[in-house]
Amino acid sequence: MNPSAIREILKLTELPGIISLAGGLPSALTFPVEAVREATARVLRDTPREALQYAASEGFGPLREWVAGEMARQGVAVSAAQVLITTGSQQGLDLVGKVLIDAGSRVAVESPTYLGALQAFVPYEPEFVSVACDDGGPLPDALATSAGARFLYALPNFQNPSGRSIDARRRADLARAAASAGVPIVEDNPYGDLWYDAPPPAPIASHWREGTIYLGSFSKVLAPGLRLGYAIAPDGVFAKLVQAKQAADLHTPGFNQRIVHEIVRSGFLDAHVPTIRSRYRVQRDAMQAALAAHLPTEGALACRWQMPGGGMFFWVELPEGVDSEALLVKAVARGVAFVPGAPFFAGAARANTLRLSFVTVDADAIERGIVALAAALRDLREEAAPPRAAKKASRRAEVAR
Ligand SMILES: Cc1ncc(COP(=O)(O)O)c(C=O)c1O
Repeated sequence: MNPSAIREILKLTELPGIISLAGGLPSALTFPVEAVREATARVLRDTPREALQYAASEGFGPLREWVAGEMARQGVAVSAAQVLITTGSQQGLDLVGKVLIDAGSRVAVESPTYLGALQAFVPYEPEFVSVACDDGGPLPDALATSAGARFLYALPNFQNPSGRSIDARRRADLARAAASAGVPIVEDNPYGDLWYDAPPPAPIASHWREGTIYLGSFSKVLAPGLRLGYAIAPDGVFAKLVQAKQAADLHTPGFNQRIVHEIVRSGFLDAHVPTIRSRYRVQRDAMQAALAAHLPTEGALACRWQMPGGGMFFWVELPEGVDSEALLVKAVARGVAFVPGAPFFAGAARANTLRLSFVTVDADAIERGIVALAAALRDLREEAAPPRAAKKASRRAEVAR
């Protein structure tokens, strides 16, 4: 295990005066504080002793029912008995690693992929296989290289870190290619509800129910501090995940599960999630406008990015040969922070990439942050190739000496 690169960088972003586009945190302004307060009071009034007691490892029955209903709405028919409530979807990743990976077994991942998943899997000592990807996600034909892999870890909606999504057709093709290669899919979907242009297509699990483990989360639609997620798995794997969870933490806090069930059962999310979308859409648009206005797209410093249709991140490709870690040093000096892209690659890292979050700071700060980022890029170029006037001046200084 190695320390998380992102955590180390987050320390930098806490310096006073830094605009952080680095963090992966949702905006605290979206947290439904009042709804949590009221739901907590109701749980303590109506079922205080049950809520504070040990509970079933599989999770709180009514919440499992609710999740099964949500999945049906998305076109994935599952029973509540196939829903395991987890302590965040991050725990789902760890349990999947524990159950499916043996030392040396192959695990197929996207390129780039979610760093937290790599961290969850690494202690089980897999051999990662990076599946070739384009702007639309993993290429189904490339799955042939993953034959024998324990699973493919896929992020179909507004991927962390790249912001990209997999369209309906490719989801079906991936499911077909994975089934014929005998590679199960672990589908991680914490961002699907955060769409700003159009709702995403049905999950990969809807194309291959018996071969897919689906992970969901309440972190981005309610609050990450509740630590609530869920895993939906075919029967054989489900029992193993429950066993692994028992060993890990017995169960996810029943108190939190009851609070969240109390909130969601009334349809609260139907009104709440659109308010999160509206806020983040404005910030996404602000970042797109700032990038278009300030980052070069032509010439020696040409940068490339795709506007994400949802989620929390832009992924920027700098010109080949520009190292985003070196750029970060310049950027912090200019008052802005981001996450360099290299740690998100399981295989050959592309050092000229970086991730920007548009959800944690407001539109004004986003604009200032991108102006500072563009200035840092110019600083880096000038350091690598000082402009002629500066070169002449330094030559004159040498002669004078
Ligand atoms: C792709 C992805 N999966 C899983 C998680 C973990 O989320 P949580 O454990 O809060 O549900 C995150 C968190 O940012 C994420 O980006």
